[in-house]
Amino acid sequence: MLEVSGLHAGYGSSNVLHDVSLDVASGAVSAVVGPNGAGKSTLLNTIAGAVRPRRGTIVFDGASTGRAAPEDLAAQGIALVPEGRRIFAGLTVGDNLKVAAVSCGHRGAELEALREEVFALFPVLKERLGSAGGSLSGGQQQQLALGRALMTKPRLLLLDEPSLGLAPRVVDTVYEGLATLRARGMSMLLVEQNVGRALELAQHVFVLSSGRVTLSGTPAEVDVGDRLEQAYFGVRETMPS
Ligand SMILES: Nc1ncnc2c1ncn2[C@@H]1O[C@H](COP(=O)(O)OP(=O)(O)OP(=O)(O)O)[C@@H](O)[C@H]1O
Ligand SMILES: [Mg+2]
Repeated sequence: MLEVSGLHAGYGSSNVLHDVSLDVASGAVSAVVGPNGAGKSTLLNTIAGAVRPRRGTIVFDGASTGRAAPEDLAAQGIALVPEGRRIFAGLTVGDNLKVAAVSCGHRGAELEALREEVFALFPVLKERLGSAGGSLSGGQQQQLALGRALMTKPRLLLLDEPSLGLAPRVVDTVYEGLATLRARGMSMLLVEQNVGRALELAQHVFVLSSGRVTLSGTPAEVDVGDRLEQAYFGVRETMPS
């Protein structure tokens, strides 16, 4: 579904991603875990078209995304759930959902059907339909951010730290929704600092440290001894004795 090869990206004179390669199989969940500042958001934003790659290729569903704009990639089926949710605080829940659907050309009966699917997944959004997005709790906003992405009828979901700042019980609700989507065959690239959650949901894990993939494999392959920890924090220097 997604194949990233030899990707380099950054801002101005700083290079953030160095030769990053990873993939998401169709209907599967891949996770990227790594510490603060590793470049996880930069990676998702580059795949979503908001940051321009400097080198390397991004192939989505068999075709190179080239230098397509975010709105074109959204229309092609790539939906980003950004870090910090970024819902429209002044719009109602209903309008947040509607705007997303309409931006991808989904109207009328199709929009209604998408909305019903979102409500089935996150019933609280139906209860809060007329409330301003900004009045929702953090967990509700995260569900709205996910719902908004689903309204674009995506084939690939890019999730940037969906557990960030949420209480464990609320994280459970969000991850139950993600597990349901996985069971339905939604392809997902999940970025998390919550390694435990990522290992539970994903079939394949990539560790990103200082802009490089330092370890990859199935959860069972990477979660052995201190392998994951070492890759996460970069290779430790051994002091000479
Ligand atoms: N818009 C930007 N302009 C300039 N530098 C940026 C920008 N966004 C991120 N950076 C820098 O790029 C590096 C990687 O940041 P990024 O946000 O991709 O990391 P991250 O792994 O998502 O971190 P976090 O876990 O804190 O979300 C950091 O050094 C950051 O300061
Ligand atoms: Mg980030």
